Amino acid sequence: MSDTAKLIYKGAEYELPLIYGTEGDDAIDIRNLRNQSGLITFDPGLGNTGSCQSEVTFIDGEKGILRYRGISLDALEHHPNFVEVALMLIFGELPSKAQYERFSTSLTNNANLDEDMKHHFAGFPRSAPPMAVLSAMISTLSCFHPEFLELEDATQVERVAARLISKVRTLAAYAYRRSLGLPYNYPDPSLPYVSNFLHMMFSEPYRQYSIDDEVLAALNMVLILHADHEQNCSTSTVRMVGSSGANLFASCAAGVSALWGPLHGGANMAVIEMLEAIHNGNMTTEEYVALAKDKDSPVRLMGFGHRVYRNFDPRATILREVSEKLLERMGRKDPLLSIARKLEEIALKDSYFIERKLYPNVDFYSGIILRAIGIPTNMFTVIFAIGRLPGWIAHWYEQKRQVYTGNKQSAYTVRTKRGW
Ligand code: ACO
Repeated sequence: MSDTAKLIYKGAEYELPLIYGTEGDDAIDIRNLRNQSGLITFDPGLGNTGSCQSEVTFIDGEKGILRYRGISLDALEHHPNFVEVALMLIFGELPSKAQYERFSTSLTNNANLDEDMKHHFAGFPRSAPPMAVLSAMISTLSCFHPEFLELEDATQVERVAARLISKVRTLAAYAYRRSLGLPYNYPDPSLPYVSNFLHMMFSEPYRQYSIDDEVLAALNMVLILHADHEQNCSTSTVRMVGSSGANLFASCAAGVSALWGPLHGGANMAVIEMLEAIHNGNMTTEEYVALAKDKDSPVRLMGFGHRVYRNFDPRATILREVSEKLLERMGRKDPLLSIARKLEEIALKDSYFIERKLYPNVDFYSGIILRAIGIPTNMFTVIFAIGRLPGWIAHWYEQKRQVYTGNKQSAYTVRTKRGW
């Protein structure tokens, strides 16, 4: 196998080195292209560009494969534990018992917000979009934790990761409570990560929220399936902001902004709005599909299509099952689930969607699950952000480590001593 690719331009030949990915996703290294030939590359949307080398997540969009640190999603499906997956993503391996316990304790101890942060919530209008509040409040954490603006070693990364992962659910729950004018619930140290979030969202001063195991497993799974997706829009944003040396809070606040858009994380809200519009009789499923295919209309079939998956999105397959199981367990019927299934059935038989390789993505069924849990539509993208946070941290840390893998600071040796 040749170690270079050849480019011929205006009669001159340029050798470009190859980089071999562990899963056969080989790349041409063009870092010296401009120096050698004066040429640059043009690839809007980075559809053909690997922006970095990464060990975090592998996706094969043609085969519908997604693996975190080499572990496939199906393996995680039977043991849904978001905290374990978060540690694995950030530090590269499944955690030892000691690391898991240390991290869990740290999550518990850091769940509370500085009391002064509550005043910030009061300053937002009740109608404020929760993603705006989340981004602003994650950024605000950097004011309350100046000790983490410069990180020295892996121990500090673990400490800041625990703080951010822990506090983000408190921020999310407070944003929700504030939007409804409800009193904030302090975190309960006796509850593990996901249960504690449900408590902060739904307990009342006069009634403790009762946590159902099936709800817990479903929410864990939703968070796990959102935990990373290699170099997507928000993760690339986190890496880009972090590449300037910006701290983790600032970088992740930017990630929240990137995730907010309807073509990225915001699609989960748009899916429910689409299903509700059909349910309310504004149009039939057939009419909606026809509109989504009409080139004169800006409407798209929300929750369908993906930049990377040109076959099925494995997350959608799992979430469809989880949503059906959860509704059955709760003894509920959600008419939106039937509409979603019908839309899927129509689209998967339609040549427009077949030719363009458009399949349901992660957002198509996640909203049905979140609705069943009682999470309002305007909080869906916030839940996505809570799930994606470990992935953002993993990439931010990987990039930072790449900086640290260079030479340690060393003294300048004068030329004479170097034999000049
Ligand atoms: N409904 C109807 N048509 C679609 C859809 C859709 N959901 N998605 C793509 N198309 C069509 C486009 O109109 C285009 O048609 P054309 O070739 O005739 O012009 C073709 O398929 C390719 O579309 P692109 O936008 O170029 O595809 P791309 O891969 O860049 O976009 C995206 C992917 C943005 C996800 C797109 O499929 C989409 O808008 N989907 C709906 C929004 C959505 O569900 N987003 C969530 C993605 S998952 C996530 O971010 C977590």
